[in-house]
Amino acid sequence: MAARHWNWFWLGVAVICAAVFLLRPQEPPKVIQADSAVKVAEPQPKLLALTFDDGPRRATTAKLLEGLEQRGVQATFFLIGKQIEGNEDLIRQMADSGHQIGIHTFDHVELRNLSPADIHRQLDPTREALRAILGDRELLLRPPYGFVDDTLLQQADSPIILWSVDPEDWHDRNVQREVAHIVSHVQDGDIILMHDIFSESVDAALQVVDQLHQAGYAFVTVDDLLLSRGITPETGKIYRHAHPD
Ligand code: NI
Repeated sequence: MAARHWNWFWLGVAVICAAVFLLRPQEPPKVIQADSAVKVAEPQPKLLALTFDDGPRRATTAKLLEGLEQRGVQATFFLIGKQIEGNEDLIRQMADSGHQIGIHTFDHVELRNLSPADIHRQLDPTREALRAILGDRELLLRPPYGFVDDTLLQQADSPIILWSVDPEDWHDRNVQREVAHIVSHVQDGDIILMHDIFSESVDAALQVVDQLHQAGYAFVTVDDLLLSRGITPETGKIYRHAHPD
C-alpha cells in the first residue's frame, strides 16, 4: 500500500509542475533586431530646421560651416546678394556640405510696399549670382524682417520661408540666453531663425545642436523638413514650420 501512495504523490507533483509550467508568466515580446525580416514601425524622428540669414560673412560663416560639418548637421542659409562676390568658395562649400541655400534680397531691404519692378531688382540679381556659382536650382526666399504683402506673393518666384522660433540673436548677442530661448521653445517641426554674421550666434547655434541632439532631435534643411512632413514647397506660398498633424 505504501508504494501506491507514493505513486499518487509523484502524480500530484507532476500535475503541479505542469500547472506551474503552463501558467508561467509569458516573456515580453523580443525587440526585433534591425536585420530581422520583420520590421517594427520606427518612431518618427523629431526634426528641426536651423536657418541663418544675412550672410555670408567670412569670419563667422566659415566657423559655423566647420562646426556644422563636425556635427553632421544640415542647415539653410538665406544669403544677401551684395555679399556673394568674394565669398563664392564659402557658398560652394555650403552646397557641397548639403546645406540648402536661399535668397534674402540683394541689399537687405524690406520687400513690402515695393513695386514688382523693385522686387525683381532685389531678387533677380541675387538669384543669378547664386546660379552662376551653383548651377540652375530652386532657391527659397526669406524676406527681410518677415514682411510680406500680396505683390511679393505674386512676384516672389520662390516659396517664402518664415520661422516659428526666433531667439532674437541680433538683440543682445548673449550666447546663454539664445541657447536657453531656443532649447525651451522648440517643438518637432520648428524652423529656427538665426544670423551667421555674429560670432555669438555661431556659438549658440552649435551649443543648441549639441543639446538638442541629446534630446533626440535631428537637424535638416528646410526642404527636407517640409518634404518629410508631406509638404511640397510652392512658389508664392508662405511656410513657417512643419509641425506634425
Ligand atoms: Ni535679415
